[in-house]
Amino acid sequence: MSSSLHTFTARLACLFVACFAAASVFAQSTTNKISIQTSSPQTIISKHIYGHFAEHLGRCIYGGFYVGESNTKIPHVKGVRKDVIEALKQLNIPNLRWPGGCFADTYHWKDGVGAKDKRPKIVNVWWGGVTEDNSFGTHDFLDMCELLGTEPYLAANVGSGTVQELTEWLQYVNFGGVSPMSAWRKENGRETPWKVSYWGVGNEAWGCGGNMKPEHYANIYRQYATFMTDWSNSNKLFRIASGANGADYNWTEVLMRDIPHNMLGGLALHHYSVIEWNSKGPAVGFSEEQYFKTMKQAWRMEELVQRHSTIMDKYDPAKRVALVVDEWGGWYDVEPGTNPGFLYQQNTMRDAMIAGMTLNIFNNHADRVRMANLAQTINVLQAVILTDEEKMILTPTYHVMEMYKVHQDAKLLPLTLQTKDYTFGNDKLPAVSASASVDVQGRTHISLVNIDAKNAQEVSVDLFGGTTYKTVSGRVLTAKALTDHNTFDKPGNIKPAAFNDAKLKGGALNVTVPPFSVVVLELK
Ligand code: AHR
Repeated sequence: MSSSLHTFTARLACLFVACFAAASVFAQSTTNKISIQTSSPQTIISKHIYGHFAEHLGRCIYGGFYVGESNTKIPHVKGVRKDVIEALKQLNIPNLRWPGGCFADTYHWKDGVGAKDKRPKIVNVWWGGVTEDNSFGTHDFLDMCELLGTEPYLAANVGSGTVQELTEWLQYVNFGGVSPMSAWRKENGRETPWKVSYWGVGNEAWGCGGNMKPEHYANIYRQYATFMTDWSNSNKLFRIASGANGADYNWTEVLMRDIPHNMLGGLALHHYSVIEWNSKGPAVGFSEEQYFKTMKQAWRMEELVQRHSTIMDKYDPAKRVALVVDEWGGWYDVEPGTNPGFLYQQNTMRDAMIAGMTLNIFNNHADRVRMANLAQTINVLQAVILTDEEKMILTPTYHVMEMYKVHQDAKLLPLTLQTKDYTFGNDKLPAVSASASVDVQGRTHISLVNIDAKNAQEVSVDLFGGTTYKTVSGRVLTAKALTDHNTFDKPGNIKPAAFNDAKLKGGALNVTVPPFSVVVLELK
């Protein structure tokens, strides 16, 4: 990203490349300016953009969500931590993806139902080679989703499973009538089906899910999807195809071309903000150079979403198939002394920047991006919660998710944005990102992120389209240093505070966004 003035036409995703290219010929911008169209919003920002991901990986499930029914030290409901349930409920989490990730394509769901002492103990081959005792299985997960008030998103085993295994899982969780699997479910204590809509057909089929070529996976997908429901998909399953690894545009091209769209609810995409796979750098003691590189990777999401969407538009101009970014987030070296296979990392203001910027990108592309899952919920990668035995802390990423929940199912307000640069050495990135929406009560929310490590940004916001606003209020998430984070000793180090640097005069709003901060404003 080499432009000095970055112009984003947020609503018109298909024009992004053109706008971006055009922007690079403009002169250095001395101001940050956002124009927001407040009249006749059309596109809903699906709440499912704010989804989460829970894999049998490290301490995400065991010790994170689940501490076991016999635990006497940590308060729980059927083995699920009460503190976690309460914290996640505050986020209104709309969906939760499970059981993987790479683990999903090794997972045989029948291992995880029935009497717990009879369940087989298997090896978690992807994540540390530890023993998986299957004590957390289908009932545990789906009952937990009910407790959380969230929709389950089940990732099915395609890589090492069978069509029959998947159809039986579907029958087990979704069928209310008489069948071998529904009878078994009832025997195992659950009378009524859970009615799960969201189903992933494998995970990373290009890699840990089977090392397939896209043509091969497209055929496999067609086969699995055929038997996942009746011919007309009368039970309205939302089937999600395993999507591209980052910039593998050919993957998207082949799947959109070769899979009939009436068999396809969504097409996935995975992108992690990682500096280099062989040298990821620390989660906490990072330099500004490492921070800048992470921000560059996070900004790549804009280009990825735009270019995958353009390919999808070619085959699906009516945008029936959703782009589902079901893995995203920052990925660093594990915390010193922890199991390298557990992917446990701390979470700083850098992660807050990734979260705020990425969610702005998703909001602005809400016409195509209708579901996403941050990786992962607890104790793994860019977690919103960290636990240590009976202690639990909320990360800066949690707070961004909480501040942004106002956008869930609100109507997107299209905006254009001119931003100054955040420069580091000879390189530069757009400093400011933003998105805006109006909720059912008529309240407008604007989320602003300034990734600049040193400079505050003065942003002038032009609200046009006839809506008049009388008041503005807001909250900010920031800290003294970029590397600041919450710890088990100081859990409240970073938390949202009231924000008073937004001034409304007539139709114009002026905001001073501090360095490395996230601001969410409410206008009425
Ligand atoms: O989220 C960790 C891993 O990253 C997932 O298991 C896999 O899908 C991806 O490569």
